[in-house]
Amino acid sequence: MIDPVAAHYSGRDSLADIIAEGLQRAGKDLNELTTADLATVDEFHIRGRKATMELAGHLKLTEDAHVLDIGSGLGGPARTLAEAYGCHVTGLDLTQAFCDAAQILSEWVNLGNRVAFQQGDATNLPFADDQFDAAMTIHVAMNIAAKDKMYEQAKRILKPGGIFAVYDVLQGEGGDVLFPVPWAREPSISHLATPDEMEPLLAGAGFKISDVQDSTRESQSWFEAITAQMAQSGKPPVTAQVFLGRDFPEMARNQVRNLAERRIRTVSYICEA
Ligand SMILES: C[S@@+](CC[C@H](N)C(=O)[O-])C[C@H]1O[C@@H](n2cnc3c(N)ncnc32)[C@H](O)[C@@H]1O
Repeated sequence: MIDPVAAHYSGRDSLADIIAEGLQRAGKDLNELTTADLATVDEFHIRGRKATMELAGHLKLTEDAHVLDIGSGLGGPARTLAEAYGCHVTGLDLTQAFCDAAQILSEWVNLGNRVAFQQGDATNLPFADDQFDAAMTIHVAMNIAAKDKMYEQAKRILKPGGIFAVYDVLQGEGGDVLFPVPWAREPSISHLATPDEMEPLLAGAGFKISDVQDSTRESQSWFEAITAQMAQSGKPPVTAQVFLGRDFPEMARNQVRNLAERRIRTVSYICEA
């Protein structure tokens, strides 16, 4: 039986085909695509590529670095790092359909030789101890109840001194989350940590936390800016609607309220193994 979290994210058809159709309808030539053309669908987290680059800035990346992206989705953050720093990135994700599409999208933008994707579970990583120079995880732990296991695994696969960058949605002080949201249609697959729980969880896994940034206000401004932009120039050719389906606009509206009413917060943690 398909895992309920993977079922939430899996679309009906080949995601790469649906994305290709959307891009072609908008007049894009698939042979001339850039990573920026994909960013409206493949950077599947609040504040998009800007947030990925902020995290990347902490990872001490060189061309020789091998990075693990835990919960890599369609592979946007992995490609962003590979393109900006020339490093190699392995993406691991629970949802097979995302891993398949991530590989195809990487070929489209000629990054297939620097990124690779495989299906797996963040709480049981199929990698050797001390294998990676750096690791990141963006908007993934909100689907994972066993965060202690997830962070212990991240610590295990990192070389000593390697950086682990975490950017996640946390439970805010303003009340229960309004559903549906992009990571869950209802509470059974939503597992938000509170800010008070995060530091003990990361420290308990053996990490030293060097930086914590709460970006909730920027996240709210980001949603307001994209809503205003869409009102002016229409929806981008491809969005998360291609795999989340028809209730995606309602999910986006709920996110705006969840942020404005401090029901959720976006926070990043930079940790050293
Ligand atoms: C909101 S998406 C974020 C994807 C990507 N990090 C990004 O920012 O574009 C959440 C991702 O977490 C993955 N995920 C959820 N639970 C997981 C688990 N236990 N192990 C690995 N991936 C998981 C989902 O399949 C989905 O791709």
